[in-house]
Amino acid sequence: MKTGIIFYSQTGHTRQAAQKLLEAMRNKGQNAELLEIKVSNAEPEKELNKLQFVNSPSVTACDKLVFASPVWAFSLAGVMKAYLAGLTSLSGKTVSLFVTHQLPLPWMGGNAAIRQMKKICEEKGAKITSHAVISWGEKRRERDLLEMVDRLT
Ligand SMILES: Cc1cc2nc3c(=O)[nH]c(=O)nc-3n(C[C@H](O)[C@H](O)[C@H](O)COP(=O)(O)O)c2cc1C
Repeated sequence: MKTGIIFYSQTGHTRQAAQKLLEAMRNKGQNAELLEIKVSNAEPEKELNKLQFVNSPSVTACDKLVFASPVWAFSLAGVMKAYLAGLTSLSGKTVSLFVTHQLPLPWMGGNAAIRQMKKICEEKGAKITSHAVISWGEKRRERDLLEMVDRLT
C-alpha cells in the first residue's frame, strides 16, 4: 500500500506541512512519498488560464493519496484546482486532503477550499477519508499541524 502526498506550495508552508506528514507516516511504518506539483509561471495566481505545469505527478502507482494546497482568495489555489481537474480518474483510491491558509479560522477560506477539493475528487471516483485545515498564523500553526498529522496518519 503506497501513499502519495501530492502538494502544491508557492511560499513553502504547505511543503513544510507535507514534510511533517511524510515523517509521521514513515515513523508509523507507512510507505509514503512526497510528489510536488510545479508550475513555471512567476505569478500563477494571476495567470490561471495559462498555467505551465513543469511537474504534474501521476497518481497511478499510489493506492492512497493526500492532496495538499494553499488557499487563495477564500478558495482552493488555482494551481491545485487545475491539477485535480486534469486527472483522468481517482477510482479505487482513498484520498485525504489538507490546506494551509493564513487567516485564523477554518471558515476564512480553508473550509471552502476543502469542499472544492472534495467535490472534484469524488466526481473522479475517490473515497475521501479525512481532511484538515491548517491556519499558518503563529497562534494556531503548531496545534493545527499536530491535528492534521493525527487525522491523516
Ligand atoms: C494569491 C493569494 C491569495 C491568498 N488568499 C488567502 C485567503 O483567502 N485566506 C487566507 O487565510 N490566506 C490566503 N492566502 C495566504 C496563503 O493561503 C497562506 O500563506 C498559505 O499557507 C500559503 O501556502 P504556501 O506557502 O504553501 O504557498 C493567500 C495567498 C496568496 C498568495
